[in-house]
Amino acid sequence: LKQGNGVKGLSEIGLKNLPKQYIQPLEEIISEAKIMPQASIPIIDMSELDGPAAEESVCRAAEKWGFFQIINHGVPIEVLENVKEATHRFFRLPAEEKRKYLKEFSPSNNVRFGTSFSPEVEKALEWKDYLSLFYVSEDEASALWPSVCRDQVLDYMRRSEIVIRRLLDVLMKNLKVIEIDGTKESLLMGSKRINLNYYPICPKPELTVGIGRHSDVSTLTVLLQDDVGGLYVRGDDDYWIHVPPVDGSLVINVGDALQIMSNGRYKSVEHCVMTDGSKNRISQFPFSSTQGHQTRYLLFVKYWQAARRRCIRKFCTRITSSISSERHMMGRKQLISLG
Ligand code: SIN
Ligand code: FE2
Repeated sequence: LKQGNGVKGLSEIGLKNLPKQYIQPLEEIISEAKIMPQASIPIIDMSELDGPAAEESVCRAAEKWGFFQIINHGVPIEVLENVKEATHRFFRLPAEEKRKYLKEFSPSNNVRFGTSFSPEVEKALEWKDYLSLFYVSEDEASALWPSVCRDQVLDYMRRSEIVIRRLLDVLMKNLKVIEIDGTKESLLMGSKRINLNYYPICPKPELTVGIGRHSDVSTLTVLLQDDVGGLYVRGDDDYWIHVPPVDGSLVINVGDALQIMSNGRYKSVEHCVMTDGSKNRISQFPFSSTQGHQTRYLLFVKYWQAARRRCIRKFCTRITSSISSERHMMGRKQLISLG
């Protein structure tokens, strides 16, 4: 990765075996036996969203599964296709170009090319490269984002923000909360980030993961996946549900911020990505997250919940570094009532 080749570079050497740093514990791997056979997450037609039936489906899906797919969502197909092509263009760049965006060299913390979140401390690495872009302003994006994908990514972000707003309206209306002026903007939309993911062909898909199980810290996440598949969502007990690629659709999931703000009514559900032995997979997800100290607070809730479940997983190491100050942490009692 230091050279800027990433996991893609490893995959392209044509390795027959998986380097041992990528071998994940068995419980991280979704085998056939752990998949819920008949279950699937709902597919909702957003062109019907002004009617009560579709609104009801959105709310029920957010309560029961925490995940759903949407079709006829208003984001033009060209915008989706353009951002997919742009993602391939970025990852195809020569190593010297991508390297400029590695943590050590990137002109800003808001633009980051990498692999696992903290490779220095993780026990097992993930078979994925990513470009993470935190949106501050048009000007900053023009100056700092890679030009091979910037315009297409911005276009996709703008369009998907409309979808996020529309879904949040429906979800908040259902909670019957009285909206105080400006709460939606500051609490729900907050800051914006997009991740472009690249999961290269893997020599031993049964031994590793593209991304280990986690829930999102966002309010809502919008995900565009290509036609390869590999995203799994936790269903009942320890079973997992595959989210099949559906042409032109977007996957929506509830994040931790929305779970907490809805007092647990909407579920932020664990998900993960398994790798593929014969195809490269890409995905892109813009998500809206809460700002500054609220985000740190949410990260702390995550940390605390994981500790309580005694399954201190790798995200604990990812997030402890984000918790910079005691000031941002709330008392344990309050966390129990919120969590
Ligand atoms: C993620 O949840 O972080 C990525 C999901 C995907 O690539 O499908
Ligand atoms: Fe995620």
